[in-house]
This record gives sequence, structure tokens and C-alpha cells, in this order.
Amino acid sequence: MGPPEEEEEEVRARLARCGQSHLLRFWAELSPAQRGALLAAVPPGLGEHCRLAAAAGARACQGGPPERLDGRMEPLPARVLGSARRSGPAALEHWEAEGLHQISQNKVAVLLLAGGQGTRLGVSYPKGMYDVGLPSGKSLYQLQAERIRRVEQLAGQRHHCRCAVPWYIMTSEFTLGPTEEFFVEHDYFHLERANVVMFEQRMLPAVSFDGKAILEEKGKLAMAPDGNGGLYRALVDNKILEDMKQRGIQYVHVYCVDNILVKMADPVFIGFCVSKGADCGAKVVQKAYPTEPVGVVCSVDGVYQVVEYSEISPETAQQQGPDGALMYSTGNICNHFFTVEFLEMVAHEYEPQLRPHVAIKKVPYIDQEGNLVKPLKPNGIKLEKFVFDVFQFSKNFVAFEVVREEEFSPLKNAETADKDTAATARQALLAQHYRWALKAGARFLDEKGCRIPEKLSLSGAEDPPAVCEISPLVSYFGEGLEPYMKNKDFPSPFVLDESKMELVGNW
Ligand code: UTP
Repeated sequence: MGPPEEEEEEVRARLARCGQSHLLRFWAELSPAQRGALLAAVPPGLGEHCRLAAAAGARACQGGPPERLDGRMEPLPARVLGSARRSGPAALEHWEAEGLHQISQNKVAVLLLAGGQGTRLGVSYPKGMYDVGLPSGKSLYQLQAERIRRVEQLAGQRHHCRCAVPWYIMTSEFTLGPTEEFFVEHDYFHLERANVVMFEQRMLPAVSFDGKAILEEKGKLAMAPDGNGGLYRALVDNKILEDMKQRGIQYVHVYCVDNILVKMADPVFIGFCVSKGADCGAKVVQKAYPTEPVGVVCSVDGVYQVVEYSEISPETAQQQGPDGALMYSTGNICNHFFTVEFLEMVAHEYEPQLRPHVAIKKVPYIDQEGNLVKPLKPNGIKLEKFVFDVFQFSKNFVAFEVVREEEFSPLKNAETADKDTAATARQALLAQHYRWALKAGARFLDEKGCRIPEKLSLSGAEDPPAVCEISPLVSYFGEGLEPYMKNKDFPSPFVLDESKMELVGNW
């Protein structure tokens, strides 16, 4: 069934008023169902969206270099910046205990941002389903699911209870269907199904430089997810905050799908933020080098925010403090702590204040003659909000610096790139597991039975001399491995998973 006539007339008039009549150029060729779908896809406020996008696109293309924020920036003050790297074992244990306590009370949830299109990686399925080539063949989703199970177990063991860390997964039109199917196929990785909540973020039309919504098919608008900051609207649209409150959740760890080392519901980070009474927190890592293209968490005019690398001059990026360390070194890794109260305030009150960011992209389109064109040059403007743009609304913001090799290795690019690829992610994870194994007293033998010489200080950017993958179900962060590994010989490659734990006891 097509749209009723009045509805069609109404939409026609609305599109004409906002200069978008071209969307009906192929109307005569569309089936009734396609007509209905096209009309249903025209969002309210399309004209305003197109005007905003075109103006922002013009500024981005013609406005010269982006505004530099150097003169207005200050590094994070010591009082809001904690550090896993510089804190002693007592402080770390204290925060970890606090985090595990909160988890055991069922007050902590994790929220995955998985609505992105992963264009740089260039696969047609959601990034979380990607297998980076570990010996176990596990996908990013599986690693994450198993870390949740393990951290639930750790908190439960410590406090003699059963507890759950619900997993909220924000998807988009592109990722929801295949993500759901993947979870069903894998039996939700043995998580309680009721504790995995998938929801969808909104989509926005892509707009040409002259302010026209783009047709990607004769009857279909080109749409893109509204950015990971679309989270705040999606929380309201899908009543997720109500769900959290019903479960008694107070703290949420929000993270990106592509960091293979992500510590889900990290008790140390949660414990640090809770101990400081924070409503909003960010994990950061030291920049690898001054001009590394990552956002820096700092303050601008006294307000906390992430400053993009394009907004800082090279001189400021290189600036050193009295101790010789970089002044602006707190790299954002999209790992955030929020109280549910804070999320409610942002979602219901402040979200409209979040400034959309502009992305200029190549958007395939249907030309006047009805042919599909894949442009060679960027032709479209997408508007996105960013999840971290809410720091400004925090009443008690904290940041927590963690060790990059232990916590951050994102999968962004296809294999041809020289960084943030499946190879670098795999290497980072296997280097970490090798370090854990050595620390637990393991020895590795080559195929002739000869001992493989150890490499004690191994960075995440080099191949370990022996391949040892440790299932998150066995160890969340290197803990508890000695009983299985101390003074024992292992072949390389070796996968330590649940099925081998008993066997390893007699290895
Ligand atoms: P990125 O900015 O790296 O984008 O997202 P991406 O979609 O994964 O990859 P490219 O840029 O197209 O190559 C960082 C995180 O934010 C999520 C992504 O899924 C990823 O976890 N994200 C991004 C969303 O959830 N929604 C969005 O609209 C955009």
C-alpha cells in the first residue's frame, strides 16, 4: 500500500517549502511500497537539518584552518587526574575493591557504542564481529562478553554472591540486525540474555554541499548514524535510563567497540571514579608522541572537554612542563564513566546544547538520469554528535590515566594501514598475554622442545617470542594465573581457556 493521497500531498508541499522536492524526482517509477517508505523516511525538520549541514560544511571547507584553542587551554589539574601508572599498589587495590564492591551490588553496567559504520576498516558487517586472527578465532564481541562474565565472577567470589553487569549495546540501522543474529548464533556467549539490551540510535540524512538531502536509491535517502553522541537521544528514545533504574544501576562504563584491550566495567576505574564522587570520568593514555592525532582531555576557558589534534598548534602539542613531560598528554580513548543521574540530566536537559561536528564524506548517489554514482571526491556532509562532548556539564569531572600497552589498541583500519589494524590489535593482545604468562612463571618451548628465550620488557608494538592467548574467562587482567602456569612449560602457540585449566594443572 502506498501513502494516502492527502499524506502524499502534504509531504510534497512540505518538501517544496524546504527546497527538497528533488527527493520525489523518481516518484513515478516507485512502487506503492517504495513511495510509502520514502515518505516515512523524510524526518521532521529536514529543511533545518539541510541548512545547518550545508552551512557547517561550507565553514569546514572554506573557513581555512580550524580555530586554534591554544590560548584558552589548560592541562587537567592534578586534583582531577588519577593514574594507574603512578599510583602505588595500596591505592590501586583500594579502588579495585571499591569497584568490585559496586559490581557485586549490581550497581554497575557497561554500555557499548557499536553503531558506527566502520568505513575505514571496510568490512560489510559490524566491527564487533571482526576476528583479528587470534589463535582462538574470537571476535571482539566474544572477548568483551567473556570479560563481563569474568568480572561478574570476580566480584561475586570476593563478596560471596551472584551479581550481574548488564550490557547495553547501542547499534544503528547498519549494525542492529547482524549484531542480534551474531549474538543468537553464539548463544549470547553464555551471558544471561535478559542482561544484554540492544537498542538503536537515530539516523540523519547526508546532505550535498548545496544543502540538498541525497538519494542513494531512487526511493531511498542516504542516511548515516548521528554519531556516538547520538547515545543521549537514543537513551531517551529507547527508555534505557528507565531500564537502568529498574535494575538499580548507578554507574555506567561507556566504551567503543574497537579497542581490543578494553577492560569492561574496570573495577579500578569504577572504584576510582566512585571514590572521588565523580559524576563523569574519562580514561586517558599518555600520547605516544607530541603530534599523535588523538584528542586531548583538558580544559578550555575553565571547562573540561576533548580538544582535537587539529585544534592545537604543533608548538602547544610539543610544550613541556617543568618535569620535561608533555603538558598536553592526556589522550582520550573513549572510555567513560557516568552516573545514571548524570546521564539523565544530559539526556533530558543538555543534549540540545551538544554541537554537531561535521564529517565530509564520499556518499554514493543517484544522478539526474537515475544512475548510481560512486563519487571519487567527497560530496556529502554528515553531522555527528560526540559522546565526550558532555564533560562540560559535569559537576565533578575526573580523568584516570592508564597504561596504553595494557588498555588501548583500537581496530580502525584495513590491513594496508600502518597503525590500528587487525595485526596491531592482535599483537597488542598477545604481547599482553605473554607478559601475564611470564609474570605468572610460565616458560615456553619451541617445536624442538628447546626453551624460547624470554623477552621481559615487551611493548605492545612487537611480536612476543611465544604465542600464548589467555581466555578472559580464565583471567580478566592477568590475575589468578600462577596455579596454572608457575614453573610450567608450554608449547607455542598455546591457548589457555577453561577447557585446559585442569589439564594445565598436570602439564
Ligand atoms: P569511530 O569514530 O571510530 O567510527 O567510532 P567507526 O564508525 O567505528 O569507523 P569509521 O570512522 O567509519 O572508519 C568510534 C566508536 O563510536 C561508535 C563506533 O561504533 C565506535 O565504537 N559509533 C560511531 C557509534 O556508536 N555511532 C556512530 O554514529 C558513530
